[in-house]
Formats: sequence, C-alpha cells, structure tokens
Amino acid sequence: MRVVLGVSGSVAAFRAADLARELMRQGAEVRVCLTDAAQKFVSVALFEALTGQPCLVDTFEEPNRGRMAHIDWARQADLVIVAPATANTVAKIAHGVGDDMLTTLVLASTKPLLIAPAMNPSMYTNEAFQEALRVLMARGAMVVEPAEGDVACGENGQGKLASIPAIVAAALDALQQSKMLAGKTVLITSGPTREALDDVRYLSNRSSGKMGAAVAQAALQLGAAKVRIVTGPASVVYPAQAEVAQVMSADEMLESARAWAPDSDLIIGVAAVADYRPQTRVRGKMRRSAEPLQLVLEPNPDIIAELARVAPKARVVGFAAEPTADLAVAREKLARKGLFAIAANDVSDTSIGFESGQNELSVVFADGRVHQTGRGSKLRCALSLLQAIGAD
Ligand code: C5P
Repeated sequence: MRVVLGVSGSVAAFRAADLARELMRQGAEVRVCLTDAAQKFVSVALFEALTGQPCLVDTFEEPNRGRMAHIDWARQADLVIVAPATANTVAKIAHGVGDDMLTTLVLASTKPLLIAPAMNPSMYTNEAFQEALRVLMARGAMVVEPAEGDVACGENGQGKLASIPAIVAAALDALQQSKMLAGKTVLITSGPTREALDDVRYLSNRSSGKMGAAVAQAALQLGAAKVRIVTGPASVVYPAQAEVAQVMSADEMLESARAWAPDSDLIIGVAAVADYRPQTRVRGKMRRSAEPLQLVLEPNPDIIAELARVAPKARVVGFAAEPTADLAVAREKLARKGLFAIAANDVSDTSIGFESGQNELSVVFADGRVHQTGRGSKLRCALSLLQAIGAD
C-alpha cells in the first residue's frame, strides 16, 4: 500500500515522523509532502531519511523530470493522509485552493482522504473551520478528531493531534474500505425519465440525479473497478471515472441498463422512473382547444425488477421514496421486484431527498434486517448504503 502523508504547519508536525514510521511498520510505502509552514518545524531531510523516499514541497518540483509530481503521486497513492492538518490547509482543501504542493496534490487525488487536524482549541471550534471540516466530510473525507488536553500554546481543550495508533487504525480502516468493491462492476440508474407528450412537452418528476451521482462516487471510493450510470436528463455532474449513458424515456433507460446488467455485480436503481407514459406521442405540437383534455397513460416497464430478472447473480438494490417513515410499502416492493435490498427515504420530510443535498435512508434487506444510514450528505448516505450492501 502506498500512502501520501501531507504534513502542514502545526507544532504537532514533529509527530508526523512517528506516524510515518508506524505506517511503514504496517507495510506502507510512505511519501511525505510538506507545506512551507511545516518546514519551520520539521525538515525534508528528516522525512527523507525516515522514509527512504523523496519529499515534495514546491509545486513545480519534479523528482522525475518531465513528470508532474502532484499528478504522479496522486495517481499512485492508495490513501492520502493530512496529519497534522492545520485550519489553513483544511480550509484550502475544502474550497479547492491549490496554492502549494500539498493542496494541489489533494485536489488532483481521487483516492480516500484522511484528515487529522491539530490546532489551538479556539481555532478548532471556530465556526469557519468546523464548516470547512463538514464540507470535506460531506465529500467523503474521513476525520480523526483531535484529542482534548493541554496544547502547546498553554490552553486546554480539544486540538491536540489524535494519537498515532488512532490515526494508523483509521488509515488501515480507510484502506480496507477502499478495496471493498475491488474488481466489481456497479450499474446505477439515476435521475428522472422524460415521457414525451409531443415534440416539445413531456411528463417527468423532480429527481435531480444527485443521489445517483453520490452512489457512483461512493462506489468509486470503495474501489469499484467499473461504475456505469444510465441517467435520464439531469443537470448533476457525474464522476469523471464513471461511464455514463444518457437516455430520455423509461424505455430507453431499460434498453441501456439491460445491456449492461448481465456483467454487473451490483445494480442500484436510484432513478425516479415515470410510472406511466402517454399512450400516443403527438408529432409536432398538441393544439389548444376550449375542451378539457384527457390524456391516456400506459404503464412503463419496471426497470429494476427486469434487471433483477436478467442479472440473478447481482445484488440488486432499489430505492423507495415514500411519503411516510413506515417501511411496510418498501418491504412489499422489495419482495415484488425480487431485490436484494431496498433503500427507503421519507419524502414527507422536505429537508431530505428530492433536490436536497441531504438524505437519510433505511435499508431494508430481504431477510428482514434494517440498516439506518443516519442523516447526512447524500455521499455519506451512499457510502453507508454500499457498506451495508457489501459484496460477495
Ligand atoms: O415502484 P416504485 O417506483 O416506487 O419503486 C422504486 C424503485 O424501483 C426505484 O429503485 C426505481 O429506480 C425503480 N423503478 C424502476 N422502474 C420503474 C419504476 C421504479 O426501475 N418503472
């Protein structure tokens, strides 16, 4: 396993030396990247001697000439740890600033990120810092909280870098999680479908595609080899590493998803598929008249049920957006569609679900078990969902 250890400018920077050694004892190859401020406390020479690897400091440094080190290191790492993480470095990472080698490398990385903050207790509880930490956690970063006690500036409170064993345990956990879906192919249906009435009008729903994008991101973070998304028209941005098929109607979604289903290990139906479509599609534009207009609708195919049928070996998971917290309807759908599990969310609570950045899922399994993801960002919920689903 390859770990990039980012060290920023806290007094606790000296403890990163022990952390590097302990990670190496656990079998990791450790490469250290220091911020300018970190160099006021510790030196490149110390870490190069300890790790036997070159350190990075300057954004334009290229230990291998002609190869951009921040991209190389980000690609080769299995895990990026920032320990100690200062308020400044955390805020920069949260807001996408890359003004030194460490922040640029973190920006370029798609690997799991583990952050161990260390700072004065007032800085730690500062709302601006806490907000930045929440932003990173919502994006899937893991945080090893600082310990309480006496800190270097003479104050007492929460701000001391967590213990080395606690950081190493979190790192091993993160590495294990990042391999959970290794070698697996994941298929996700996402977004709404659009059922045409005529050439300019359609029936659709409020699905934003955010939950589908979060499930795709979570699958990648858990190490899936291939993530494929069949999406209806949604403005959300899907992860660049996913293969995306854009469709409009439920029929088109079924066709694309069915082609991919047989070689999928995990199939997650996040799409809000329109239950009905107009029986006839008018060419051109329907004309206005003084009479009431009656539309005749016919049912759409049940995509996830069909995918469960054509991919019997896959773990097939549905979503159930219900206007109640009662799981009875979700259980009925789980059985009727032949699913491995179903993730229910209560859409009567407007603070979660449709168009929101937050969600809360109750994952009901065919054997009756229920896993609660708790309330959090859609990515947090997606990670918790996939961890509960697991893989063979
Ligand atoms: O039956 P209901 O639409 O409530 O079930 C929701 C689950 O079934 C979701 O996972 C959704 O993606 C899937 N579904 C589907 N095709 C449909 C309707 C729902 O795949 N026509």
